[in-house]
Amino acid sequence: MHPLPCCGSLLGEVTLQHKVPTGLDHKEAEVYRKLDPARLPKHIAIIMDGNGRWAKRRHMPRVAGHRAGVAAVRSTVETAARIHIPALTLYAFSEENWKKRPATEVSFLMRLLSRYLRAEVPTLNENNIRLEYIGRRHELPVDVQERMEWAREATSHNTGMVLTLALNYSARSELVDAFRAMVTAASQNGGIEHLLIDEDSVSRNLYTRHLPDPDLVVRTSGEMRLSNFLLWQLAYAEIYVTPTLWPDFRGVQLLEGIAEYQKRERRYGGLNHNDHPAPEIAKV
Ligand code: FPP
Repeated sequence: MHPLPCCGSLLGEVTLQHKVPTGLDHKEAEVYRKLDPARLPKHIAIIMDGNGRWAKRRHMPRVAGHRAGVAAVRSTVETAARIHIPALTLYAFSEENWKKRPATEVSFLMRLLSRYLRAEVPTLNENNIRLEYIGRRHELPVDVQERMEWAREATSHNTGMVLTLALNYSARSELVDAFRAMVTAASQNGGIEHLLIDEDSVSRNLYTRHLPDPDLVVRTSGEMRLSNFLLWQLAYAEIYVTPTLWPDFRGVQLLEGIAEYQKRERRYGGLNHNDHPAPEIAKV
């Protein structure tokens, strides 16, 4: 008997058999087949970590880890776009990185970013990816700001995945900027008594106003921290931590993270699917 089009077998474990998007390699296709395409996260945020440790293990300078991290960015971005994830946000450079790392490493990262943007725009366009940024970009070197604006403009017509790079980003600064913007807007529009602060107005004033909140946050290199990343927006996100160091991360690891996400039951503070209400009020 032929299996039903939806299922590998009628008995035992049901394996979904849906069309694998073009461009996925053999390993990616194998993981993708286990996913439910109707329940893909709409927004994935990634804390790229472990570049320094990757380099140290190879007795190489830290910057070699950052250089190797670009291949991981490329693979992750392309795979996410191929499976039609609507939004991907990468934490590339925090405000703390700027202040706490040697100037040589910071300037290397700036050059790497500039080169990435110049080299990657054609691929972003081929994959219909629109580039955006979050973070205090006015504090970045002027030439980097110009390159960023050029790349944003060159991809602004794309209608597929939104790739947001967090550069000189801090979630606490983002909240401070949002509150300041709200106060300024109120004082210019009838006075401070017109200030309205609720969850929607805060969200509308964050750098991420162009994005839905992430459903899934991935952190590489095994660290269990949010490191001042999207603190407001990650309120209900599922967290996936992998021991893989960022330079070793590829599209297939992203798909594994999504498979893990699909095993979770998202409750948003509610009850489990199986936790039926008690038939009578519990006696205390
Ligand atoms: C964290 O590793 C990584 C960074 C601070 C920089 C991320 C940059 C890249 C992945 C390369 C370029 C990015 C783009 C978007 C082109 P770490 O140095 O903190 O590693 P460690 O914790 O092992 O020291």
